[in-house]
Amino acid sequence: MNPLLLINVKTYEQGTGRNAVRLAEIAKKFSGSDKYDIILAVQPTDIAAVSKIISTYAQHIDSAEYGSHTGHILPEAVKAAGAVGTLINHSERPVPIGEIERNIKRAKQCGLVTVCCAPDPKAVEQIAKLGPDYVAVEPPELIGGKISVSTAKPEVIRKSVNLVNLANPNVKVLCGAGIHNKQDVSTALKLGTVGILVASAVVKSEDPEMAIRELAGGY
Ligand code: G3P
Repeated sequence: MNPLLLINVKTYEQGTGRNAVRLAEIAKKFSGSDKYDIILAVQPTDIAAVSKIISTYAQHIDSAEYGSHTGHILPEAVKAAGAVGTLINHSERPVPIGEIERNIKRAKQCGLVTVCCAPDPKAVEQIAKLGPDYVAVEPPELIGGKISVSTAKPEVIRKSVNLVNLANPNVKVLCGAGIHNKQDVSTALKLGTVGILVASAVVKSEDPEMAIRELAGGY
């Protein structure tokens, strides 16, 4: 199992529609590495097009089942569109702990890999007990900033890894927030994570290919 390099395009204009496909074509140049698996997390409307190019995750799913649930994002639908996994509880799309549990269960029913986000080690421990594939610790105050969680809060990463190893050793830990260079990545790996989530350093870059190459250097 390779470490992850997960690029979350959020709802940035540079990661929407044709721009999402353009990013996927760039990211594809870094597929097939034996050092990491590169993945794009995109908006529901872009999953079908992007998943034809590169491994693709949804940014959110709901626990709804087939039926009268207008506006919900069905796990079966993102799977059918080509997604192989999904983020859950990103700090920009938080859901209550009960819904996180239901979302994990529904994602697993559909064969979707689950990356559950958490703002701090306490939440990491609570969510790890629900059995996602990954838990990603992302201090919200560092998201979108210039100082990474690896630099600003290495103790948060280390504590999250230790708590998950105690709570549920089957769950793997990722981290994100402000990650922008290879040192941020290598530090995160040294602290016991199995990869990183990144958004603005790649998606908002003037040169996304150079930005990905920089991060890839940390694996
Ligand atoms: O999901 C990853 C994202 O929240 C991190 O954002 O812009 O700090 O890389 P950013």
